[in-house]
Amino acid sequence: MRPVIVALDFENQTVVEHFLDQFPATDQLTVKVGMELFYATGPSILRTLRDRGLRIFLDLKLYDIPHTVEQAMRQLGRQGVAMVTVHAAGGAAMLAAARRGLDQGSREAGVAPAKLLAITQLTSTTEAQMQAEQLVSADLPATVAHLAQLAQANGADGVISSALEDPAIHAATSADFLCINPGIRLATDAVDDQKRVVTPARAAALGSNGLVVGRSITRATDPVAAYQTVLTEWERGK
Ligand code: C5P
Repeated sequence: MRPVIVALDFENQTVVEHFLDQFPATDQLTVKVGMELFYATGPSILRTLRDRGLRIFLDLKLYDIPHTVEQAMRQLGRQGVAMVTVHAAGGAAMLAAARRGLDQGSREAGVAPAKLLAITQLTSTTEAQMQAEQLVSADLPATVAHLAQLAQANGADGVISSALEDPAIHAATSADFLCINPGIRLATDAVDDQKRVVTPARAAALGSNGLVVGRSITRATDPVAAYQTVLTEWERGK
């Protein structure tokens, strides 16, 4: 898999198609469908993207009681996507329910099971904010490492976190446990609402298994060139 996942944070299918048309047909991208696009289009967008030969990361960040998450994940498991997400803060029972639902859905549809990725702390959250607003007394790397262990023990294949915490996560879990990192910015980009921001080269050096990149690519004047720059930077950091 290519290490760069492009976040298709667009308002409708027409804008998505226009964006993707700029990439060469041979360019086998992995794309992320998040809440904005999925809530606008529903599951039909997944078919459209699959028909283009794209790998799909379906990022709906489930967080509810275990039964609801299990049934929702069963539906997502039927979609034949490569990766899905839940919030690790939902706890052990919810994470295990997500795994069961996902596996059941993929079995029923006869598709390969998606990787289950758990959000640790959003990359828009600072350590001070987490401690004050969530009343967490541990520091951010320790909190993230703890949630990563909880996620792994309950069936997750990896976590979503800032690359700043990748060393702590790899140390707390196993070598094959995935660290997928949003909050990626090229040195010249605006940070926007993100707080724990890292460049592609630094993320690669910190042990990242994949980058989620939205606005650095989608808002660039030349998105294909920006995508290539992120890939080149990643290689430089490895
Ligand atoms: O535009 P930008 O590169 O900041 O987009 C990052 C993407 O990654 C968004 O789609 C956002 O929903 C997602 N994400 C994140 N932080 C997380 C999990 C997902 O920014 N912890």
